[in-house]
Amino acid sequence: VEQTYIMIKPDGVQRGLVGEIISRFERKGFKLTGLKLFQCPKELAEEHYKDLKSKLFFPKLIDYITSGPVVCMAWEGIGVVASARKLIGATNPLNAEPGTIRGDLAVQTGRNVVHGSDSPDNGKREIGLWFEEGELCAWAAVREPWLIE
Ligand code: GTP
Ligand code: MG
Repeated sequence: VEQTYIMIKPDGVQRGLVGEIISRFERKGFKLTGLKLFQCPKELAEEHYKDLKSKLFFPKLIDYITSGPVVCMAWEGIGVVASARKLIGATNPLNAEPGTIRGDLAVQTGRNVVHGSDSPDNGKREIGLWFEEGELCAWAAVREPWLIE
């Protein structure tokens, strides 16, 4: 089954939006398979965002992501990668549709409260980066027959 890495960024934690954000993925019908509050070391932030290393905003991005604890999550489900990106909304919250997390809860790209993997391959890569094997939990959700025919 497809998996994605979702992370509530330090602004989401500081603003008390953790429950609100988790509940959106839960209510949609995806399955949580990993969850932790974590102070991200600089090296991990740089590895996670390595594709953006050449960008002028890269140092600011690393400062932002390491500025306080983040909530790391692994979510599983059919089409979860693309669906989570839709639930999250556009990178710039001012362009994000109302009803999306960024559209409802944020105003600036540099404070856009949540991360979501952009492909199934990156989902796997990022879950491997942020979680140890033993921190992930495979479990049977009893509600599944009511979500998937
Ligand atoms: P993520 O889910 O966090 O990966 O966001 P994204 O996929 O919507 O955007 P992208 O991967 O292109 O950029 C990663 C993150 O870098 C964004 O979510 C922002 O937090 C930050 N970022 C991107 N562009 C800018 C920018 O122009 N200025 C600043 N300050 N931050 C930026
Ligand atoms: Mg991205």
